[in-house]
Amino acid sequence: MDLSTSYMGLSLKNPIIVGSSGLTSTVKGVQKLAENGAGAVVLKSLFQEEIFFESEDYIKEMKKQHPEIKFFDYDGRKNPIEFYGYKVREDNLNNYKSLISDCKDSVAIPVIASINCFYDSLEWTVFANELEQAGADALELNMFFPPTDFSKTRKEKEAIYFEIIDKITEEVTIPIALKISYYFTDLGPMIQKLSETKIKGLVLFNRFFSPDFDINKLEVVPSYVFSTPEELSISLRWIAIMANKVSCDLAASTGIHDGEAVIKQILAGADAVQIVSALYRNGKGYLPKILNKLESWMKTRGFKKLYDFKGKMSQERSEDSKLYERTQFMRYFAGKKNVIT
Ligand SMILES: Cc1cc2nc3c(=O)[nH]c(=O)nc-3n(C[C@H](O)[C@H](O)[C@H](O)COP(=O)(O)O)c2cc1C
Repeated sequence: MDLSTSYMGLSLKNPIIVGSSGLTSTVKGVQKLAENGAGAVVLKSLFQEEIFFESEDYIKEMKKQHPEIKFFDYDGRKNPIEFYGYKVREDNLNNYKSLISDCKDSVAIPVIASINCFYDSLEWTVFANELEQAGADALELNMFFPPTDFSKTRKEKEAIYFEIIDKITEEVTIPIALKISYYFTDLGPMIQKLSETKIKGLVLFNRFFSPDFDINKLEVVPSYVFSTPEELSISLRWIAIMANKVSCDLAASTGIHDGEAVIKQILAGADAVQIVSALYRNGKGYLPKILNKLESWMKTRGFKKLYDFKGKMSQERSEDSKLYERTQFMRYFAGKKNVIT
């Protein structure tokens, strides 16, 4: 069986990419994933926000230790506190660059770096440049600005995505993927417009940390950290709808927990899939099981390569294309396919 695929111009021996997470935050972890057959990895994101808070904590501590230093009394030279904040940033960046180069030395599969910066930050381009120099094969922009800013219009907020993409794609030569959420007013056309920029891949979709309440302690606590297999349906629908309407490659993400889900996403038209929660739950040794399922299903169906069935069930190629846009439980559809109304 030929499981190989091309994603953003990268040759992957199979379509399974281990998504950005703690699983890909160490060289050892990445090595284990490669040994177990991963087609590629996306490293844990480098978060500007994390660096910012770490610097703040550091600066606070320095202020406590050195109350004699005037922090806001700039005289054109870097004061020591500013310097320490800068050092935290440099250390984080250097550690991440070492992670990239060490992974590149240790595994033969593509290593995709990932960044998340503040939305109006120049760091997007600076980080992208640095990570390219460190040897990343590609870069995934983990880009999401929660729609909680009431001071900007939808248009202004959407424009930021394009501005950042333009700046980064002007600066770096490695392929860029954009990992987005489905929180857009006009999702289909937005995905299409994004695909028409110079990015080479879109990841549909990211899944975020969500808050929950502990009603006994009246505290905000994290809700489910890991996805469930039922969450597959959102990305499956949108991969199928967008497969023939985009000008870049598509990677499916969220809710892919087994070989069947991988098959479905390829049938929908995905060029690759990203898996995280299923590997946290079942261990890295679960990867070969997913790959075996994919291979055995291909054998049974008489498919020799992924391209024999990729996109076979995308909206455009489906006889039931209306079902992809159906959202209401109407009687009209009841007799059509095992649908309960
Ligand atoms: C513990 C954990 C850490 C994650 N860290 C990142 C991250 O650093 N950057 C990122 O883009 N996504 C991150 N994600 C999101 C995953 O990459 C993925 O998009 C999400 O979990 C949905 O895929 P899944 O259903 O296979 O888990 C993280 C997810 C988990 C569970």
